[in-house]
Formats: sequence, C-alpha cells, structure tokens
Amino acid sequence: MIRMPARLPAGSKVRYGGDYNPEQWPREVWEADYAAFDLASIDTVTLNVFSWATLQPDEDTYDFALLDAVVERAVAGGRDVVLATSTGALPPWLAHRHPEVERTDFQGRRHVYGQRHNACPSSPVYRRLSAELAGRIAERYAGTPGLVAWHVGNEYGGFDGGCWCELCAAGFRDWLRERYGTLDRLNDAWNGAFWSHTFTGWAQVVPPNMLSEHWRGPDHTAFQGITLDYRRFMSDAMLANFRDEKARIREHDTSTPVTTNFMGMFRPIDYHRWAADLDFASWDNYPPGQREHARMALAHDVMRGLKDGAPFWVMEQTPTITASRDVNPLKRPGMLRLWSWQAVAHGADAVLYFQMRQSKGACEKYHGAVLDHAGRTDTRSFREVAALGAELDTLGDAVLGARTPARVALLFDWDSWWAAEMTDGFNRHARYVDTVLAYYRALWQAGAQVDVVPVTADLDRYDVVLAPMLHVLSGDVAARLEAVVARGGSVLSSYWSGRADEDANAYLMDAPGPLGPLFGVRVEETDSAEPGVTNPVTLKDGDGGGPDGDVVSPASLVFEVVVPQGAEVVGTYGAEFYAGTPAVTRHRPDGRDGGEAWYVATALDDVGVAWVTRRVLDRHGLVGPYADVDDVELAVREGADGARTAFVLNHAAVVVDVVAHASGTDLLTGRRVVAGETLRLEPADVVVLREETPR
Ligand code: GAL
Repeated sequence: MIRMPARLPAGSKVRYGGDYNPEQWPREVWEADYAAFDLASIDTVTLNVFSWATLQPDEDTYDFALLDAVVERAVAGGRDVVLATSTGALPPWLAHRHPEVERTDFQGRRHVYGQRHNACPSSPVYRRLSAELAGRIAERYAGTPGLVAWHVGNEYGGFDGGCWCELCAAGFRDWLRERYGTLDRLNDAWNGAFWSHTFTGWAQVVPPNMLSEHWRGPDHTAFQGITLDYRRFMSDAMLANFRDEKARIREHDTSTPVTTNFMGMFRPIDYHRWAADLDFASWDNYPPGQREHARMALAHDVMRGLKDGAPFWVMEQTPTITASRDVNPLKRPGMLRLWSWQAVAHGADAVLYFQMRQSKGACEKYHGAVLDHAGRTDTRSFREVAALGAELDTLGDAVLGARTPARVALLFDWDSWWAAEMTDGFNRHARYVDTVLAYYRALWQAGAQVDVVPVTADLDRYDVVLAPMLHVLSGDVAARLEAVVARGGSVLSSYWSGRADEDANAYLMDAPGPLGPLFGVRVEETDSAEPGVTNPVTLKDGDGGGPDGDVVSPASLVFEVVVPQGAEVVGTYGAEFYAGTPAVTRHRPDGRDGGEAWYVATALDDVGVAWVTRRVLDRHGLVGPYADVDDVELAVREGADGARTAFVLNHAAVVVDVVAHASGTDLLTGRRVVAGETLRLEPADVVVLREETPR
C-alpha cells in the first residue's frame, strides 16, 4: 500500500451537519430548514448526492439551475458545503439508452433500470459520463465560498459488491494480464492443476459467480485464488471510477480535499487499496445494534488507519432510526451524544448526519433525520441534536487534527478476511471480523489506545502487535513481526494464521507457515465443532500471579492441535483426544527479558481473550485506568503540541463511579477534575478531559 498523507478540510471546530436534499420540497421549506439548522449549530451541509437525472436530463444537456439555487442558499447563510458528484445513482434515460451501464449481479442477471449503486464500473459509457458530470460540477462550483470538500459517488460497492458482466470479464482479463504477465504464472497462482483448470488462453477466463465457480453464494467458491483476484479486481475497478472523477475535479480545483463515504468494515472493497487516493477518509456509521460500542470503536479505528492515523470524518449517522433493517429501533436518549463523542474520541473531525430532513417519498421517507416531515424543532430528537451541536461549539478547535497516541497495533487485512471466509474446510462459523473484534474488544475494555492498520504498516512505533486470524501471509510480514519481538515487543496471533500465501495457496510447510519460527509452534491438526460445543481451556501463567489469576475459558469453533517448537505452554485443552495439549503458547526467543510471541490456537471466550490480552498489555504498562470498569471507555487524542484530551465514555446503562486518572478540565462543562477524585458517570455520560500535564 502506497501511503499519501491526509489532507483534511480546514476548519475551526468539529464539523456538524449532514446530507441535505432540498430538491424534494418547496423553497419556503428551505427557509424553515435553515432556521432550524441555526438552532442546532449546523455548520456543514452535504449537497447533491443523488441528483444526476436533474443535472443532466439527457446525454447532451446539463442543467444546473436547481443546484445553483441549492448551493446559493446554503452559502448565503454562511454554511460550509460538501459537494457531491451525484454519480451513485443512474438517471433513467442513461440506462434506457445504454443498457450496458446497468450492473450484472452475482447470479449473472443483467439488471434493468432501478434503485441506486446500479452502474457497472467497467462500462465505458458510465466512466465517460460520470467523469464528465464530475468535471462539469467542479468547473461550475470550484471556488464557491464555503466549499470545503468534494464527495465523489456514494458508498461504492453498496449493492452486492460489484458486477459480473462481459465488460467486467474483459476488465478482469486485462487486470490478470497485468498482474501475472503469463498464463503459466496465472495457472500456478490459481493452482490450475486442480480440477483441470489449466487455462490456455486469456479469453477462457470468466468472472467467478453463481454461473461459474460458486455455489450457495459468495463464500463458496471452487477456486479461492480466482475469487480472491476477482475481489481485488472489482475493488480496483471501482477505485478507477473514483479516480476518473477525482481527476476531472482536479482539472478545475487543485486543492479542495476529495473523499468518498466508506462503510467501515465493509467486506466487498479493500479500503486499504483505496486509501492513497483519498485526501481524507470518511465513513457512514450505522451500527447493527444498540450495544455495539466496541464494534463502532473498531470501525472508527479501521477508518483512521487508512490515512496513517490522521483524523477522519463521520460522513453519515442517523440521529434516530435507520430504515433499511427489518426492525429499526430508536437511539435511546443520550445515545446519539455518546456515540458522536465516541467518534470524536477516535479521531473524527466531523460528525454528520444522514439526513438533515426526511425524504418526502420512496424507501427512506421514514429514515431518521434532524428534521422530520413536519419540520418540528420541539421534539426529543431535535433537542438532542441541538444540544450536541452546542457542545461541539463549546469544544471548538480543542481536538482538531489531534491523533491517537497508540502503542498497540491491530492488523486488519482484507485478503485474510476474503480468503478465510471463502475457504472450505475448518469451520464456517468462525468469522474474520468476529475474531478481530474479540481481540479488539479486550483491548478496548482494557483502555489501550489502538491503531488498526494494514499489514504493510510501519510497526516500529508499536510495543504490541496483534494479528488475529491472519490467514493470508504475504510479503515481509513475518519478518516485520519477528522484528517487533526482537526489540522486546509483544506479538499475538491466533488460529488460521499464516496458512496461505497471497494467492490463497497453502504454504508447503507446517502451519502457521512462515510464522512458525516466531511463535515457536507447529500446528499438526485442526479440529472444529458446531457453535455451542466447547472445550475448557485452562489458562495458567507459569510466571505466576498476573492481573486475574488462572482461568478456565470455554473455547469453541476451532481447535488446533499444537506441537511446541520452543514455545512454553500457557493454556491447555481440557477435553477431547487432545486434552492436556497446548491451546495457548508463549514464545520468548530471547529469554524472559526479551520479546514475546503469543499463539492462541482456538476461539477462547471473552474471558479467555481478555486474560491473554491483558497479560500482553500489562507487560508494557498499557492497561488503562478504567480497565476493570465494564463498558467504560477511555480514548485519548493528542495534539501536535502534546496536549492530551481524554474522553471517558460510559456505555453502561448504570451510574458508575471511577477514580479520575488525571487532573484537568472537562471541556464540556468547564468543571475541574483532580486526579484521584471520584468521577461519577451517569449512564451514557461523556467527560472530555483536557489533561493538565502533557506527557
Ligand atoms: C447510507 C447512504 C445514504 C442513505 C443512508 C440510510 O448507506 O449513503 O444515502 O441511504 O445509508 O441509512
């Protein structure tokens, strides 16, 4: 991954606002909208996300009259504008005139006009017209006062992650030629000797979908190598669309930052492949449930990791409900505030909504919004939105640009995600994000500051590196993890790591492949069990003591049978024919005073994961002050001048009293806090503590 430093929109506070689509209602309503925005301290609106049909009523005609009015009204009131390019949904005439712009789904069905995120990324017509539209918009609005960012497209891959048409097939073949050069190399990468898959001409290659290599769905493929390459290709094909538009924007505007809204841990696109092309990262935060605080924190950190720790934006979140789920519960009182501050705590320099006012019709008309259909400002939700706006005003520029002082890195790897979940054998219930999240949750509860980074990241600055389920091991990753341990750091990995090379072919050696010497183990067999079946793993630290004594962790799903090759045994299975054999090991290649490499050969429960993780953190003094208070989060941002701001967030539904870890001032209330005093946190409470002594 090539890294390009982030370029964020300038500003004087954490931005607040969101997607605003006033083309759907009369102008009188616009005036009422803006009056309400003033009440809620809304400073930024994202305009023009889905207006292609209005902007270009046919192939030869462009009409900016309505967008002119929308933009003028926004900037007249002093609002800053994020201007979108409107290419996330096709206009009907375009699909009618050029049916090949419509995507072909995973079943192989060419779609006809409908919905959004509906374009084939390889279609020359789509590429030409989307770039042309972006260019014309940029030409017209570049230099508009208050224009702070360009928003290209919308949620790339947002349908079922791509297209499988003839145009994409041709693009795939080109991509493969570029990657492999020769068919011999291709056949080798795909292990064509299996099931008679030796290709003797590029034209014989077809996209892997339900008509070719797949059965049951995207996770069941006869050839992981083919599907892995198609995912990479599709990710790159959509990136080419983004680049087309960005290039046209840059012809007219050389400086305003350009982004697109990502979706956090979204499987179809390898966001690390895109990161260098974004000026700054932004994403849409729609947690799948009400108790997903660790998952949201992880997603924020994945997004922050895209630009090497630079701040990112939350481009969308709902103030109240989503509309797309079967059941769409309200955010409880205080949740919007808590989750918004959590975003800021993890590095967000903007907290924006979808949407500023509810749509008049179609599938999102009941989706939550800052303003409901009646435009009321005397509702609970509007009051909460306005109160948060006032708090963000109070915070001002205190944390803008500030970074997370992390000494722990967690590797997040799309190749491993893709390959592990599309592989037969082992256990399909063991999922990549669940595994990563289990370790992240333990780090989060322990109050460790974590960077979530690609496998190519510089690891020199970290004391601890976690690499759960690093199924695909490529490049020099093993050597760089060894270097962490060689300089006294700690590394942890889990079952299914180091199994496959970058082509998803198994290493012709003991698992965990090239990671074996680092962890001092070899995996001889791998057992699996249905969800609910457990094997008690006794965790016992030969060093004695430790933060929480010995524990028994019911492990599940995957049970590797491990033979130590220099590692000491820390956990043992309690059942099955491998009872008494190692389930968790620690390797100290340079003795007790050197670095440590932990290998966890099974899916421990949360208690077991926490036990192991806390030991690793403890060794480096990285367990935070609130580690033992359930659901209290500590996240820190540090300015370039060293000023530290600690966010203490109570995700519990109960009042908790904690002992303040530092003296400082709560930036939201002005209250002085003295280290050691009791800090009472109400349910969903937030303290933003500017610490007194920068470290
Ligand atoms: C996002 C999308 C928005 C809106 C929103 C509803 O995924 O970018 O346009 O559809 O979801 O939750």
